Amino acid sequence: MKTLAIYLALALSASAANPVRAKQAMVVSRESNATDAGLAALKAGGNAVDAAVAVGMALAVTHPSAGNLGGGGFMLVRFADGRTTFIDFRERAPGKATRDMYLDASGKPTQDSVRGFRASGVPGTVRGLELAHKKYGHANWNSLVQPAVKLARDGFQVTYGLASTLKGNRGIAEFPESKRIFQRGGKYYEPGEIFRQPELAATLSRIAADGGRDFYEGETAQRIAKEMAAGGGLITLEDLKNYTAVERKPLEGTYKGYKIITAPPPSSGGVGILQMMGVLEKSGYEKSGAGSAAAIHFVAESMRRYYADRAEYLGDPDFVKVPVTRLLDPRYISKLRESIDPAHATPSSQVRAGDLTAYESAETTHYSIVDKDGNAVAVTYTLNGGYGSGVTLPGLGFLWNNEMDDFSAKPGAPNMFGAIGGEANAIQPGKHPLSSMTPTIVLKDGKPFLVVGTPGGTRILTSVMLTILNVLDFGMNVQDAVNAPRFHHQWQPDRLQVEPGISPDTRALLEQRGHKVEISRNICEMAVIQFEDGWLAGASDPRVEGKAAGY
Ligand code: DON
Repeated sequence: MKTLAIYLALALSASAANPVRAKQAMVVSRESNATDAGLAALKAGGNAVDAAVAVGMALAVTHPSAGNLGGGGFMLVRFADGRTTFIDFRERAPGKATRDMYLDASGKPTQDSVRGFRASGVPGTVRGLELAHKKYGHANWNSLVQPAVKLARDGFQVTYGLASTLKGNRGIAEFPESKRIFQRGGKYYEPGEIFRQPELAATLSRIAADGGRDFYEGETAQRIAKEMAAGGGLITLEDLKNYTAVERKPLEGTYKGYKIITAPPPSSGGVGILQMMGVLEKSGYEKSGAGSAAAIHFVAESMRRYYADRAEYLGDPDFVKVPVTRLLDPRYISKLRESIDPAHATPSSQVRAGDLTAYESAETTHYSIVDKDGNAVAVTYTLNGGYGSGVTLPGLGFLWNNEMDDFSAKPGAPNMFGAIGGEANAIQPGKHPLSSMTPTIVLKDGKPFLVVGTPGGTRILTSVMLTILNVLDFGMNVQDAVNAPRFHHQWQPDRLQVEPGISPDTRALLEQRGHKVEISRNICEMAVIQFEDGWLAGASDPRVEGKAAGY
């Protein structure tokens, strides 16, 4: 028996995929030049926040579908001394935004929230990275932006993945300035060619010299305001001047003794993973085994229930009261757990957002960084859709977000991720659209254990949770946890998306339980770091061309 156990353990470890291991520091991002920029900042004596600035700026050059100056995001930090913070640099609705601005004369949602000049919220990236750096960084700001300037000015090699998304994107093809820059006027970049972006290099040089002042008040701001007005956009100089990034307290919860530090509203992600993991914690779902139909079913049912609450209750906490405590009340969570039938899917038509009155008391990209002192940073930032709104303003060289689509244009009408929402997420000037971005840090015995995040729209929070569960409940190493096939349910539409790696017989068992199973390729792209026995293990997602590297 003992021999068999040893044999099995060996067989398991032999089949495990290897993460990248390093002793002191680690960066995992979606693109190799950006990872290198972060690592260089760390080696030069910068901390994880400094490295996060360097990676964020570099991705704005080398991963233009999501890396950005014209978008926004969230940064979660857990310092080695135990302090935590969450920097919300999500876009805000412009001053001229109105509740029904994306409805046509007959009251139907238009495509204006997705494509073109009117789709953008006021960007937060430059302000957010600057705020993080001013408060928590050590390195010189200019030195952190310079690698991005150089990558834009001197160029970098186009990868296979970048070449194909540049070719495939309809948005950039529609706007002459974007088409000129990103598709060379229609003569597409091929893998291996050098991509130079001189206008972006000039914008980045001004930001390197003058920081947020340039972007929100100075030359860049003036040019943005002028070109936005010329193109019919809403964003004014006043909007830029008024933009502030906000520091918030991260949400905290526990799962089987691990501490989960995660994203508060206006992210829907942290509340989501804490509610879903609460439902799972005492269910024993994991006994059926990783990837089993019974486990997938139970987890999917927890997802379905949260997304009903999400649609009803989640929005910008600066504008609406989000009942976080009640959504995470253990009694409410027990009721949710009890409502799950292990043998049958509950049709979404029978699931409604919970009545919480009884509980009164109570294309995006992610990168993860750990420095030599043990400070951990998780950043998810985005233009929303791949290449955002498709718009590049003349002379500035960077793409604009279409984050306004994350608001509910109309109660019950799905956005580009099929998510629906209501009053809590209606458009108002200055408001942040609801997000799914969920940078998360897990502690074990009070010490950092996992730094996790991903892009993927509404599938972000479920993929963050699945990756954590793969490590905590199924004992996978971090690379296996990232590689494992994923699945997703979001209440509406009532379907269970599964990656092709979920076997046909498992899918059949799920269908027998009443799930409408749909195959979906590449659910999310994780960037994860695990602390293990004095080592750091970095896992970039094999679904994309990322890079984990450390020293
Ligand atoms: O904040 C959000 O939830 C979305 N704007 C994220 C979009 C996204 O992840 C797209 N990437 N695949």
